[in-house]
Amino acid sequence: MSRKHTRVEIRPDGVAVVTLDHPDKPVNTLSPEVLEEFRERVEPLLDDPGVRAIVVASAKADTFIAGADLEILDGMTDPEEPATLSREGNALLSRIAASPKPVVAAVHGAALGGGMEVALACHFILASDDPATVFSQAEVMLGLLPAGGGTQRLVRKVGLTAALPLLLTGKRIRAHKAYRMGLVDAITTPGGIAETAARAALALAGGTLSPRTRKLSTVDRLARLAPVRALILRAARKQVLRQTRGLYPAPLAILECVARGLGQGMEAGLECEARHFGELVTSEQSRALRWLFFAMNEARKQDPPTEPRPVRRLGILGAGFMGSGVASVSLGLCPVVLRDISDGALASAVRQVDRGLVKQVRSGTIRRIEADRRRSRLHPTLELEELAGCDLVIEAVFEDLELKREVLARVEEIVAPGAVFASNTSALPIASIAAEARHPERVLGMHYFSPVPKMPLLEIVRAERSSDEALATARAFAVAQGKTPIVVADGPGFYTTRILAPYLNEAMLLLEEGARIEAVDRAMKDFGFPVGPIALLDEVGIDVGAHVAEDLGAAFAHRGLGASTALPRLHAEGYRGRKNRRGFYVYPPPGKKGRKRPDEAVYALLGGAPRKEVPAPEIQDRLALLMVNEAAHCLGEGVIESPRDGDLGAILGLGFPPFRGGPFHHVDAVGAAAVTDRLRELAD
Ligand code: NAI
Repeated sequence: MSRKHTRVEIRPDGVAVVTLDHPDKPVNTLSPEVLEEFRERVEPLLDDPGVRAIVVASAKADTFIAGADLEILDGMTDPEEPATLSREGNALLSRIAASPKPVVAAVHGAALGGGMEVALACHFILASDDPATVFSQAEVMLGLLPAGGGTQRLVRKVGLTAALPLLLTGKRIRAHKAYRMGLVDAITTPGGIAETAARAALALAGGTLSPRTRKLSTVDRLARLAPVRALILRAARKQVLRQTRGLYPAPLAILECVARGLGQGMEAGLECEARHFGELVTSEQSRALRWLFFAMNEARKQDPPTEPRPVRRLGILGAGFMGSGVASVSLGLCPVVLRDISDGALASAVRQVDRGLVKQVRSGTIRRIEADRRRSRLHPTLELEELAGCDLVIEAVFEDLELKREVLARVEEIVAPGAVFASNTSALPIASIAAEARHPERVLGMHYFSPVPKMPLLEIVRAERSSDEALATARAFAVAQGKTPIVVADGPGFYTTRILAPYLNEAMLLLEEGARIEAVDRAMKDFGFPVGPIALLDEVGIDVGAHVAEDLGAAFAHRGLGASTALPRLHAEGYRGRKNRRGFYVYPPPGKKGRKRPDEAVYALLGGAPRKEVPAPEIQDRLALLMVNEAAHCLGEGVIESPRDGDLGAILGLGFPPFRGGPFHHVDAVGAAAVTDRLRELAD
């Protein structure tokens, strides 16, 4: 077999350096082929008396190993295949771990999933102190489990209570944090990390250095006692069930492997990993989550039809909630001129940006010097003229058509020809905003979701006259901001708000018919939405909901969709949702802890039908299938470009259950005929 993925150098001092370097990919991934080659390379070194120690390193710029090759997993239909892959990988990693010869992992860049597990099997982890260096047992996010001993070795190395959050959430840990928790044995600079690792390996072989032994926390020491451990694992299981409502099998399987390994030994734990890995890889949930991962990458990569305009300076109009969020995610890219008419708004935006930077420094996402650079790039101003020189201006002033038109006209006088103007409007047609523009071809929508730094989706709204260059500029900038963009047509509610409207409308109709608030929310959370539709309305604001209901209700009326008048009625009675503490729920007073509970008084305002039990499956079908139905209309009308974009928009923008893969995937899974039959039945 040709040696394609690894190189071995045996140094004069007897240290063998095994360097991973995938020949056709920008990152190293693990496939059966790579594992086999790795085994063929490493095993002889373990046996060779001339080799004193081994270093495992990567030749890639910013990754150690990015995890398993997901495309290969996609081809596996028999659970035995992935199970075998896990068993074979574990046989090799166990051999490394058991070897008396020191093996050092030189980790610079991402050590994700299987990559972290390769490092864990080594006797010593040397990590570079670079923001690119992150450790993550990310498998759970793809509906999988760490099947290379991750559920076993991590727990043993850092302790049960420290390991569980990493295994169950896949969260990323940077080098210093990893050092503090005992995952990493030493930290160095990225330059020459393989050389430093070789010296460490030699010192380990010579007995002048030993792997770090970090004292476990008291709880983790107690967790060695079976009854304490059982208690911790039971609490973790309860929390997982509460958070996932039992919809995600992976975290439960992870807990089982941890328990098995600690109770019956490593061998039993590893076998448990292999068996569950087989089941999970071939499960619908994991397939959907892996599809989502690829779809996001694809949406971010798509080649634009024309070159984007380079954005050397960004202008933002409106330093409110959205404007300051957009500033936060742009300062890493270019200087930002943030203009508002209110001093107070500017001051609070600067504070908000600063809070974000402090948080990022604290979590190790960026260095302090980078935070300072970003701070110095923010130019808050009351002067519109300062937008001169901006290549892209994103408008986030109040949702008022006249105001938006007026600021567009002023901006056009100031900026260079060719500069792009993007509106963050939630619902106003871009064509109306651009109706009197001198250059309507440079106007489009960039619809961010709140909170901007957290939400992954951006809807780019292409109006009829928006140019390819404007589109390419918005798309490239969004990707650079870390967003996943979908391009949607200009029209009522664009895509996400449009498919959300019938869903929320149906929730209101259910309440009018007598369903209980908490029953509707519970049913949709059991379906997999992160929040129920009614709680969502309270969060977004009943005033905003009423506004959207009126706008979109008119657009749907010709299709015969019965519009609920509940929201406008509640709004007229002074209900605005959580922000004025008058919503569908009654909230505990500010600063006081407690649970929200449904406001029974709302029912009287909704026609007062007596409350009755509506079965959860009926609620779920009525709401979810209407969203699916509207998504299909959007595809038919060309509002979205592809089912993929429709699925991405619903999952990333609205929280459609990721494990269902979005509305279009859902139709595929349930069957188009079954969906239409059920919709007809419900319509009757
Ligand atoms: P906000 O009320 O927090 O901020 C608006 C800011 O615009 C205020 O600071 C105001 O002083 C400023 N402003 C008013 N006239 C101005 C002018 N002529 N020049 C510069 N600044 C001016 O509003 P928010 O929530 O940030 O919304 C802004 C836009 O984003 C709206 O169009 C809204 O529909 C849209 N949007 C809001 C979302 C949300 O969740 N809040 C989500 C997506 C879009």
